[in-house]
Amino acid sequence: FGFHVDKNAKFKFEPIAPSSADELLLPKGFKYDVVAAYGDIINNQGDVFGFNCDFTIYFPIEGSNTRGLLWVNHEYSSDLFVHGAKSGDKYSAEQIRKMLYTQGGSIIEVYRDAAGLWKMDTSSKYARRVSGLTPFALTGPAKGSLAVGGATTVQGTFANCSGGTTLWNTVLSCEENYEATSTDAGLNMTHYGWVVEVDPFDPSFPVRKHTALGRFHHENSAMGISKDGRIVVYMGDDKTDACIYKYISDGKYVQSSGRSNTSLLENGQLYAADLRNGKWILLSHGAVNTALMNEKYVIPSAIKSTRADLLKKYTSQADVLVHVAEVAILLGATPTDRPEDLEISPFDNTIFVAHTNNDVHGNIHGHITRLFEKDNDLGATEFDFEIFAAGGRQSGFSAPDNITFDTAGNLWTVTDISSSKLGKGVYASFKNNGVFVIPTSGNQQGKALQFASAPVEAEMTGPWFTPDESTLFMAVQHPGEETKSLSDLTSRWPHRLGDHMPRPAVVAITGFKK
Ligand code: FEO
Ligand code: CA
Ligand code: CA
Ligand code: CA
Repeated sequence: FGFHVDKNAKFKFEPIAPSSADELLLPKGFKYDVVAAYGDIINNQGDVFGFNCDFTIYFPIEGSNTRGLLWVNHEYSSDLFVHGAKSGDKYSAEQIRKMLYTQGGSIIEVYRDAAGLWKMDTSSKYARRVSGLTPFALTGPAKGSLAVGGATTVQGTFANCSGGTTLWNTVLSCEENYEATSTDAGLNMTHYGWVVEVDPFDPSFPVRKHTALGRFHHENSAMGISKDGRIVVYMGDDKTDACIYKYISDGKYVQSSGRSNTSLLENGQLYAADLRNGKWILLSHGAVNTALMNEKYVIPSAIKSTRADLLKKYTSQADVLVHVAEVAILLGATPTDRPEDLEISPFDNTIFVAHTNNDVHGNIHGHITRLFEKDNDLGATEFDFEIFAAGGRQSGFSAPDNITFDTAGNLWTVTDISSSKLGKGVYASFKNNGVFVIPTSGNQQGKALQFASAPVEAEMTGPWFTPDESTLFMAVQHPGEETKSLSDLTSRWPHRLGDHMPRPAVVAITGFKK
């Protein structure tokens, strides 16, 4: 028994009501198992599961729906729950090491036992950590360039928010709000804000950052194929007034080449969406130069530099890639309301974008945008769009964030109302953050049904189904985030006996056996 009885049956459940309870609430007939929580040992070497888990991907082992590897992002650290407290106004060397180690990603092995419970297998030969301390190779045009201080390898990954898979069975993990950690740890900022690639099954595959995909506040990646066989990667820049991007490889995908298709992420073209004109704008050094050399070109007011300064700043494609967000605005791409997750519909190749909100412009509850590529071709340079669903009281959700599809054509949407605003003012009726199921066709299209309610101050992240949809993996991120003192906790989830603090954790959600 899973989320669909068979592939023709629509997913049915009794929607739950918003709740303020310090518990992960699910509809009748569903349960969750805590698979791994912050601080748990993941392997025989004593590696530790990181903090604030986010994106998850399940990789079946030998095609199994009951044993596989789980990649888990760890987005950020916590002074209170990781260090106990900050020492003065500077972090100690040990605190910086821990701050870097608790971020990045975990590879854990998970299995479902005879009683139907999901557990972590700590004797796994695959389980390992990738963290802010792991050396990474750079690939693509910015590798070794002056724009990254000449670096060909860099230290670590952190601020790993969401991500995606490749067609060759590796992980793409996205570095989002990298500024705080790179500043605190004294690291070169230009080495973060990239998309990183990891092979969960093979530690000998050098972990890498693909500079051809640009540097910004990467939320996630959604990979597909154009009609002529090239790789297309959709990406959002989760910042107020930031753009939607897509990358198209120069070469074509060759299935039989397996993992060597990774080189497709090293040579390609990066575009940003112009929503006024329905056009994908090419972000190239040539285009920047042409614009700046044109006397009639007017620098958009959001950019506070002179023409002479910009000409000096952009001398190569590496400069463009390191400062992509500015280049997109400079070339006329449309600033949008914080694009978080993007997904390609497996049913009709339309692109769904969670625009979480934009309080500067009064988009308080956010919306989900749907792009229609010309001729349904992911390689197109023209598109149309619509607002697929709007947040607010009527739809029942606010601040859409991660999204995923099930095989019945439902869009699963989690919400991320920030902890400080939960339960207050215009957010009061939503209570805790949740998980919603939105049909994408039929007479229920666009109607959000609540499937889960998160513990206090938590956000549900990284929804990922096993291939047979018998299990839904998710991360419970930042429970009790507003806690000011360990003696006055706002959440105790997952309520482990004798525990002194809340713990971010990955859960496996399943239906009860009939
Ligand atoms: Fe890390 Fe945009 O959420
Ligand atoms: Ca988050
Ligand atoms: Ca997010
Ligand atoms: Ca968010």
